[in-house]
Amino acid sequence: MTLRMEEICEVRPPLSGELQSRADRTPWTEKRRQFIVYRGDDQVGFLSFDLGFEEGLVIYELFVGERHGRQGIGTAMLLEAEKIALSLGYAQLVLRPEVLNGRLSGEELTCFYLKREFRRSATYEGLLEKSLIDLDCSGEIRYGQSRRFCSHGLIERMERA
Ligand SMILES: CC(C)(COP(=O)(O)OP(=O)(O)OC[C@H]1O[C@@H](n2cnc3c(N)ncnc32)[C@H](O)[C@@H]1OP(=O)(O)O)[C@@H](O)C(=O)NCCC(=O)NCCS
Repeated sequence: MTLRMEEICEVRPPLSGELQSRADRTPWTEKRRQFIVYRGDDQVGFLSFDLGFEEGLVIYELFVGERHGRQGIGTAMLLEAEKIALSLGYAQLVLRPEVLNGRLSGEELTCFYLKREFRRSATYEGLLEKSLIDLDCSGEIRYGQSRRFCSHGLIERMERA
């Protein structure tokens, strides 16, 4: 199974019904990057980020089409989000879990992120964060497991799945 991500801007390609309604709720701005995820010709996911926050790269929306759920796509999109964050110079991913439809409960959604190494922010209530780098005892930046995953990239990971 191969996934690919395509960035969309102000002028959007035709989107499938589910993804169109997500994109409609996420207006394009210069400070927001948005991606459509494809599996073959199928549009299976939507991912958007807000730039410019000192806490980290904000995942504004992570959405997988209903019939494509529970096949590892959301997890692969999070790993790709890490790669994007690092490439933009962010050391952390942050998000506020918010159920976008009735597919899973708030508790299940939070659990989805906690199982993927997000932690509750000590500073901002309700915020989850995932650090993408560590400082070792000499103060050197060490890229952790996240970086290792990222170097495989979305496509290779999905092929191995
Ligand atoms: C949250 C979401 C992105 C997960 O994507 P996904 O591709 O289904 O996730 P994966 O296949 O990588 O991982 C599956 C895990 O997600 C969680 N999950 C997904 N669907 C679930 C459901 N219907 N009920 C309970 N848990 C669910 C579980 O933790 C599951 O792990 P498990 O299969 O071992 O139980 C997807 O369910 C979604 O788009 N939901 C609607 C949009 C939304 O609320 N987004 C959150 C914005 S903050």
